[in-house]
Amino acid sequence: MDSQYEEIKENGVSNNNHVTKKLKLSPWISDSEIRDEFSHHEPGVARINNGSFGSCPASIIAAQKQWHLRFLRQPDDFYFNQLGKGILESRTVVKNLINADDVEEVSIVDNATTAAAIVLQQIGWSFAEGRFQKGDAVVMLHCAYGAVKKSIQAYVSRSGGYVIEVQLPFPVSSNEDIIIKFRKALLKGKSNGRKVRLALIDHITSMPSVLIPVRELVKICREEGVDQVFVDGAHAIGSVQVDMQEIGADFYTSNFHKWFFCPPSVAFLYCRKSSILSDLHHPVVSHEYGNGLAIESAWIGTRDYSSQLVIPSALDFVNRFEGGIQEIRKMNHDAVVKMGKMLTKAWGTTLGSPPDMCSSMIMVGLPASLGISSESDALKLRTHLRESFCVEVPIHYQELKDGEIGSRDEDGCITGYARISHQIYNTVDDYHKFRDAINDLVRDGFTCKMLLPN
Ligand SMILES: Cc1ncc(COP(=O)(O)O)c(C=O)c1O
Repeated sequence: MDSQYEEIKENGVSNNNHVTKKLKLSPWISDSEIRDEFSHHEPGVARINNGSFGSCPASIIAAQKQWHLRFLRQPDDFYFNQLGKGILESRTVVKNLINADDVEEVSIVDNATTAAAIVLQQIGWSFAEGRFQKGDAVVMLHCAYGAVKKSIQAYVSRSGGYVIEVQLPFPVSSNEDIIIKFRKALLKGKSNGRKVRLALIDHITSMPSVLIPVRELVKICREEGVDQVFVDGAHAIGSVQVDMQEIGADFYTSNFHKWFFCPPSVAFLYCRKSSILSDLHHPVVSHEYGNGLAIESAWIGTRDYSSQLVIPSALDFVNRFEGGIQEIRKMNHDAVVKMGKMLTKAWGTTLGSPPDMCSSMIMVGLPASLGISSESDALKLRTHLRESFCVEVPIHYQELKDGEIGSRDEDGCITGYARISHQIYNTVDDYHKFRDAINDLVRDGFTCKMLLPN
């Protein structure tokens, strides 16, 4: 990525018979090309929150525009001759990326929220149609994504499912801490003759962000006879390895618009062939209803499908980096850990997890003197950092339960963590800007009580 040009001596003979030195363009993307790809980002903003909405390089925005124009130019031809082929190409790229057995296992959907609705709707029908008994359990992490928890409420609790939430220990120091709690919850789910019908497991939790030992948890689910396992890997593709054979879940979703450079919005939903593939339907019903989930998902009425068609272009983009997506992942992980450590050192705080339990995002303890004592404080501080310091970073409030001993800095318990991300467009200056903003606040005796509600 660093050297733009390689100087080589050519043995050929030039027009004037001299042996010439030529500049050969490196096959890999250069730093200045990376800057150009993201030159539409608002200047002067430290954007260290790739996790929420991802980022899309200019070359992929251009590819998306081309797809959109192909539709607008001749909609009939696009609909009959291009759309289906294009989506199949995207599904094939995904199948290979995630090591699925068959392209039939891969559907392209808008986002992880839609994927969750597809899976949970089917669970709801199983309760409603008597295949599951009222009171049968669903197990999930308590910090599952808010929208997904609401879907559980809408589709599962309402149909008679009993929901068990596993408290994620945080700050967390080992995978074993999570595994023990999860196993306990499964045993609780199976008590009183109940069956555990579904385990919903995050691959990377959103807030606080922790890389979950998903392979181990899926294995435990199999040992304990859980009917279906759904992994919410919204943040995973492009930031950690995603391999369907290794993970072994029935359902897995991940967003391409977070860490794989696609425009909003595009995700995949993997459904293992052996699972109840035929009973899965897109919640938006079109005339493709009954033709299989992948086909149903590929037409949910007239709309812009361009974001779903650029997955091959996104793959081309990551392959402009030496080592491709694996190297990008590694570089982002190493960089975010380095920046996290730099910040904790500057503020006298601690990280929320060991480096091997994070992906391209890491939780960084904030000074206790900021007085973060509620979720509302966390949101107010996030807004203040954006509006007064041009720093985009989500803040997590960590409630301390009675008798609980959290991490401490010199002023007391750490109740606030920043979730910092690293993506290829970030520079050290982004994190220095954040460091200095917090240092200024601490120096000025700021506390969250000084802020008006959002
Ligand atoms: C763990 C998790 N699940 C689901 C989602 C929802 O993703 P989307 O808004 O793209 O549907 C998110 C979004 O950040 C997430 O972090």
